[in-house]
Amino acid sequence: ATERTLSIIKPDATRRNLTGKINARFEDAGLRIVAQKRVLLTQAEAEGFYAVHRERSFFPELVAFMTSGPVVVQVLEGENAVLKNRDIMGATNPANAAPGTIRADFAESIEANSVHGSDSLENATNEVAYFFAQTEIVG
Ligand code: CMP
Repeated sequence: ATERTLSIIKPDATRRNLTGKINARFEDAGLRIVAQKRVLLTQAEAEGFYAVHRERSFFPELVAFMTSGPVVVQVLEGENAVLKNRDIMGATNPANAAPGTIRADFAESIEANSVHGSDSLENATNEVAYFFAQTEIVG
């Protein structure tokens, strides 16, 4: 089925000017970028987005990293978009990411891993709504 998933190009990638190269990976795989904005997340926005990880030891570092520079938040649309995007990204830890994935090719570390993608259709719906009004998404 056609799905929408939330993607974030993280500060390590925007700093290295990789936005276009990463977007090409999505488009070449058949996903459409139906919403996109470059923003500096506030601490409150980053904490709210990653609230599920609040109790993890890496949470303060994660929030500091995600607010350290611009991010590009985007909505990707396509057949099976949630899983397809996870395949394009590769494993969270670039050391475990398959060759040819975004994280294998671009990520610096498990924290500076270049991209975020929703991990389920239910989370995708919530994460898209966290950043975008319906009127900002043009399919
Ligand atoms: P993401 O998909 O954005 O979801 C949560 C993020 O936490 C994850 O990608 C990683 O970048 C980060 N993360 C996960 N595990 C660790 C860890 N052990 N140390 C630092 N960051 C982590």
